[in-house]
Amino acid sequence: MSIPIHQYDAVIVGAGLAGLAAARELKSAGKSVIVLTKLHPLRSHSGAAQGGINAAFAKEDSIELHEFDTVKGSDYLADQDAVEFMCQTAPELVRWMEKMGAVFSRNEDGTIAQRPFGGQSHPRACYAKDRTGLTLLQTMFEQTNRLGVDFLDEWYVSDIIYEDGVVKGVTAYDIKTSEPAIFNAKAVMFATGGYGRAFKINSNAHANTGDALSIVARHGLPLEDMEFVQFHPTGLAGTGILMSEAARGEGGKLINSEGERFMERYAPSKMELGPRDLVSRSITQEVLEGRGVGPDKDAVFLDLTHLGEEKINERLPELRDLAITFLGLDMVKEPIMIAATAHYSMGGIPVNIEGHVRKSPTEFVTGFYAAGECACVSVHGANRLGANSVLEAPLFGRHVGKTMAEDIDKLTLMDVSATAADNMLAEMKKITESNGNERVPALRTELQASMTENAGVFRTEDSLRKQKDLIKIYRDRFENIRIDDKSKIYNTDLQEAIELGHMIDFSAFIVEGALLRKESRGAHFRKDFDTRDDEKFLKHTYATMDENGDIETEYGDVVLGKFKPEARVY
Ligand code: FUM
Repeated sequence: MSIPIHQYDAVIVGAGLAGLAAARELKSAGKSVIVLTKLHPLRSHSGAAQGGINAAFAKEDSIELHEFDTVKGSDYLADQDAVEFMCQTAPELVRWMEKMGAVFSRNEDGTIAQRPFGGQSHPRACYAKDRTGLTLLQTMFEQTNRLGVDFLDEWYVSDIIYEDGVVKGVTAYDIKTSEPAIFNAKAVMFATGGYGRAFKINSNAHANTGDALSIVARHGLPLEDMEFVQFHPTGLAGTGILMSEAARGEGGKLINSEGERFMERYAPSKMELGPRDLVSRSITQEVLEGRGVGPDKDAVFLDLTHLGEEKINERLPELRDLAITFLGLDMVKEPIMIAATAHYSMGGIPVNIEGHVRKSPTEFVTGFYAAGECACVSVHGANRLGANSVLEAPLFGRHVGKTMAEDIDKLTLMDVSATAADNMLAEMKKITESNGNERVPALRTELQASMTENAGVFRTEDSLRKQKDLIKIYRDRFENIRIDDKSKIYNTDLQEAIELGHMIDFSAFIVEGALLRKESRGAHFRKDFDTRDDEKFLKHTYATMDENGDIETEYGDVVLGKFKPEARVY
């Protein structure tokens, strides 16, 4: 079979805010660039971000406070040089978005409205009702189209072409036809989003299967801080669909089955606007202690009725619709039911501020870049603050795009041969011809349920060891799958099987990192080591996988700065 080889200066995988912002920079700099995405760009998960994007605009606020809140929120694991860069650039980034046409909600005096979010010293989240991510995504998509960026939608990127320490392109196939192709480039960027779908209850799009992470790991490259998975406090009961933090920012109260506003016990000064890790643990604790609500007593109430219909329609229309559609509850008239939901991946592909992918804590891979949720530049450390990821994605995406444009002038296009696609073709053939007795959806459901049970909001040595053993079993069972669809047209069975292989691989990283980190920090909470241990673990985890799926870890330094680690009290 002859495989087409397309040549570009840059290939970007993923069309969310990070990928589009990078594509815009590259095209503006006169580079040829193609964006490959397994969805339509406007279905990228950035569009699901609801509540806001942080920037210190208010008189009472400051960039230093934004930095401090972010570092404290991260439980001091964030790299402070990257945090400084993000917080200092944030106001200009929001203005940039606004100038390109993003319509933000306004105050009476015409300034951009800002609402409080968890862990903030001042209301800092600029917003567009409760559709902030979608508004920004539409703006960026419009800009990339205006400039003539090339897009290929519904293409599945299966691998990087990584030879002699250099990334030379990617292999991919067209989901519509299963036709393969090679994209050869001087610079490749991953901007593929997070890995929240490893868990049963999550707020993530179906596409967030973390493919990029295990693609990187299968080449022996490290992943960073994978054990840090954020559980958002307010997912709709049963489904985990995001009910934005904006609901609490606008005054939503959390109530248990005894009618108590229980956050008084856990975060007396911040109450519902404590950071996400703390509020999620509090909700889960209430449920575990028997004060849950709903048919399975596994949720708590989020009460917004006191806001009134006018304010809810003006500020939270999407949330109202979602609760009516999925729970049959109208938040104007009655409290809705929520529980913690896996939401965001703090860990990812290790990069420096310029987005260069790390080969080790101190070395880089030539021609390879990452930004957004799949990357770990470590601005979020052990726990991200709300509205900082909608900031991080376009901010670092744009910055990395500029870096790539500069690097491209110094890089040469390295030859690739059609054999670079052999592994992808072999995997597609093996799965399509598979005839075992394991079903992909059932295996995926077992993986997700066990991750929630054993590596979720609360973890212990026993639960993590059990999960590690289960993952080995899932890996073996994956070798015995069967798919029924043998066709080439929209073979989603094939795609889901490939994705499940990735989910098994990166789940092993989450579990191993969590097992070895014998402390509690941010979103990683060990019941058996329930305090932070800076002496041993004020460190980033760098983990690699061998061909048997076994994980090796080493620890690297955190970049400290003006904020010294101290007790984290809210
Ligand atoms: O709660 C939210 O609106 C989500 C925003 C975020 O994850 O930053």
